Parts: sequence; structure tokens; C-alpha cells
Amino acid sequence: MGLINAKEMLEDANRGRYAIGHFNLNNMESVRAFLLAAEEVRSPIILAVSGGTAKYMGGYRTISHMVEDFIQYLKITVPVALHVDHGTYEEALEGIRQGFTSVMFDGSSLPIERNLQLTKEVLELAEAHGISVEAEVGGIGGEEDGKISMGERANPEHCKMMADLGVDFLAAGIGNIHGKYPQDWEGLDFDLLVRIKKQVGHLPLVLHGGSGIPEDQIRKAIELGVNKINVNTECQIAFTEATRKYFEEGKDLASRGFAPRAMLAPGLEATRRLCIRKMELFGSVGRA
Ligand code: 13P
Repeated sequence: MGLINAKEMLEDANRGRYAIGHFNLNNMESVRAFLLAAEEVRSPIILAVSGGTAKYMGGYRTISHMVEDFIQYLKITVPVALHVDHGTYEEALEGIRQGFTSVMFDGSSLPIERNLQLTKEVLELAEAHGISVEAEVGGIGGEEDGKISMGERANPEHCKMMADLGVDFLAAGIGNIHGKYPQDWEGLDFDLLVRIKKQVGHLPLVLHGGSGIPEDQIRKAIELGVNKINVNTECQIAFTEATRKYFEEGKDLASRGFAPRAMLAPGLEATRRLCIRKMELFGSVGRA
């Protein structure tokens, strides 16, 4: 199966009350790791690309070709969507032009009227190409590609306005933040999640900053209407810890352990295993 958009997989998740994992690509190893994980446990998957990753990996076109070709090469048969993560207006359009099947336009730092207007424009262009669209209301805290957001709570009425535009899924700040959660983090704001859900009906909601949220809170968020969970930091940490262990054990000094492919293999494997654990938690295993 080639790349598909994320609309149908999230509608299925909405009906089945589970969530699809959105996993951020960071390098070629992550492409392999996530695709192999999804195929092994028969889960749909969303592979996501931030602006920083796009620059690092040779642009949106290179990445869409690479992912398409890996799907063929690895004989992946589960549904895979390729998604622009936190796109600026230009990045969202570039993703649409270059073969991405899903885009997020992140206008959360703009006044709501401007966010709505630009989201509408992206939506019209995306729809013409059969591409799914995620919008954001209320910034997600923490740091993403060098940008700091204060993590404001989303206004449920603004969420309704976005839903009425016809976006396919919506990211709404409910106390979640990107990166590591601080010790004094208050947890997800479930009252707000319930109020947002009331406003947007069946529209699938997206939980950004999915790394490090306690499992019971993840399960509760899914019960209350979250159908897409974004994970990046935990995968990065798993990759780097496995790589550090490789060096600490002196494996780079043994035999041909200096070869980059050998050195990157433990990180790839750790990423693959973590991805499977997340899919089990999100309930998407066996849904493909
Ligand atoms: P984490 O890096 O905190 O897992 O967040 C990922 C994310 O939300 C990407 O959009």
C-alpha cells in the first residue's frame, strides 16, 4: 500500500475509541524503525516531519520519495500517512506540493481570525489533492524547533470555529507541552478536554507532547476523544541512550564496530521497540 491521508484512519480510531501514533522522523533510521514497528503489530501509523527535520533530511520532496520507496522496499502493507508537523503556511503548501498526504498548519500563535483564514486557505488547497488537514488552537507549551510556546489552554469556542471550517483533526492545548515535562507539571486538563469535545462533536482531537505523559492520563485522554498522539522526545531519548550504551560498552572499538551502520543499529532497534510499546498503549495494534 502506498501513502494515504490520515482522515480515514482517524475516523476509524474515533469510532473504535483508540489513538493512532504520530511519530516524528529524525533521520533515515527512524523511517525504518517506525515502518517496521507498524508492520510487525499491524497498526496504522502517521510519520511526521517538522520544519527542522525537513531541512536536515533534504527537504519535503526527498523525504516523501524516501518514505514511499521504503514502503515498497520493506513491503509495508499497513496504512501509512506522511504528515507535515507544525507547518508554517509555506511549509504546509510545500508538503502538499511534494507528495505529503497530510499537513498540519500551525497558526496557533496568530490571532484566531488570522489562524482561521490561513487554515481555510490550506484546507482548500489540501482538499483538492485529497490531503488531510490538522489545525491548532491554543499553543502547545515547551520547545519545538527552537520556538517556545507558553502552553496556553485552548478556547473551546475557537475549537468549534475550527471544526466548522471542516478541518480533519484538531490540536488543542490542554496543558500538554513538547519535550520533557517539568517535575511540577499539573497534568492534562481533562475538564477542558471534555468542554472542547462538546463543542467539536466527532472531530478527532490531537494530543501533542505525547512523551512522558503518565499512561493512565494517556488512556483517559483517549477515552475522552483524543485519536492522534504525537511522540518525538521519547523516541529521541531511546535512540540516544542505546547509542550511548554502545560506546560505553566499547563496541565501537571491537571488530568492525566503528562502521556507522553497526553504531546506529542499537538506536534503530530501541526506537522500533518503543514505537511498538506506544502503539500497544494507544490501542492501535491489530487495527490495520
Ligand atoms: P514530544 O517531543 O514531547 O513527544 O512532542 C511531539 C510533538 O508533539 C510533535 O508535534
